[in-house]
Order: sequence, then C-alpha cells, then structure tokens
Amino acid sequence: MLKVSLQKNIPIFFINRESLSFILKETLNNSIDILKGSKRGVIAIKACLSTKKSIPKSISSLHQRGIHITIQDNGPGISARHKDKIWELGFSKKPGGTGLGLFGVSFIVEQLGGVCFENGLPTRGAIFNIFLPLKEEL
Ligand SMILES: Nc1ncnc2c1ncn2[C@@H]1O[C@H](COP(=O)(O)OP(=O)(O)OP(=O)(O)O)[C@@H](O)[C@H]1O
Ligand SMILES: [Mg+2]
Repeated sequence: MLKVSLQKNIPIFFINRESLSFILKETLNNSIDILKGSKRGVIAIKACLSTKKSIPKSISSLHQRGIHITIQDNGPGISARHKDKIWELGFSKKPGGTGLGLFGVSFIVEQLGGVCFENGLPTRGAIFNIFLPLKEEL
C-alpha cells in the first residue's frame, strides 16, 4: 500500500524535475525491494513545510524554511551499524545492487543545498528525511 500526504500550504517551489524524480525513485525502489514478499507492506510519502521543530538541532537554521519530505516503510529498518554505511558509494546488501542509489540521493540533495538522513528505529522500518531549501524563483 502506498500512502501519500501533502500539506495544503506548500508553496510553489522550483526544483529540477530529474533531481526530484531521482530522489523519489531511488528511495521508493529501496522500500519496494525491502517489502517484496510482505503482505502488509506500507510505504508512506509525506511532504510539508519544515518548521523549527521538525529539524534536528544538528542541522543549521538555513533549512528552517524549506520542504521536508519523508519516505517511510514498515520493513525491517536499518540496523545501527549500517546507518552511516547506506550513504556510501557502492554499499549494497542486495544481490545485483550497485549501492549507487542513496549515494546519488545525498549527492543531489546536497547540491541543492539540502540535507538528508535516515532516522527510523532499527527493526521498526526505515524513515528517510529530505530537507530542501525553498527557492521561489530560479
Ligand atoms: N528502505 C530500506 N529499508 C531497509 N534497508 C534499506 C532501505 N533503503 C536502503 N536500504 C539499505 O541500504 C543499502 C544501500 O541502498 P542503495 O539504494 O544505495 O543501494 P542498493 O539499493 O543496494 O542498490 P541500487 O540502488 O543500485 O539498486 C541497500 O542495499 C539496503 O541494504
Ligand atoms: Mg537502491
């Protein structure tokens, strides 16, 4: 099941179409792969305006006005020892995986001046967070 929820007051913002689709495609494909064979798999995508509260303290106030996207699934989650490794180029636990996906996601997000991190509880599913700064004109 896929749940999508978008906050109503998200302003129009500009982002390169390929960048946004790469970010969503790679994170969604990872959730789809991990949930394969599960009858109760749920993936939820949310997008809202980021607020002071939604931003971890370690992240600068630069991101206080931006878009916060989360991609969450109810798969096995990411173990503590893999939390950092998943972002490395070439890290993959999948047969045939290239380990390019999340490396590419973090690369693109940083190029756009944003940040991304995963903060799901291990064994409770993965939660990918993407913060993108708002640019209301090109
Ligand atoms: N939603 C998720 N739940 C559990 N583990 C995940 C999830 N997303 C990513 N991972 C772990 O992070 C690893 C790296 O993901 P990444 O997308 O970078 O590469 P990949 O999916 O293995 O390969 P490719 O993207 O080339 O198919 C995955 O192999 C998997 O072990
Ligand atoms: Mg992948």
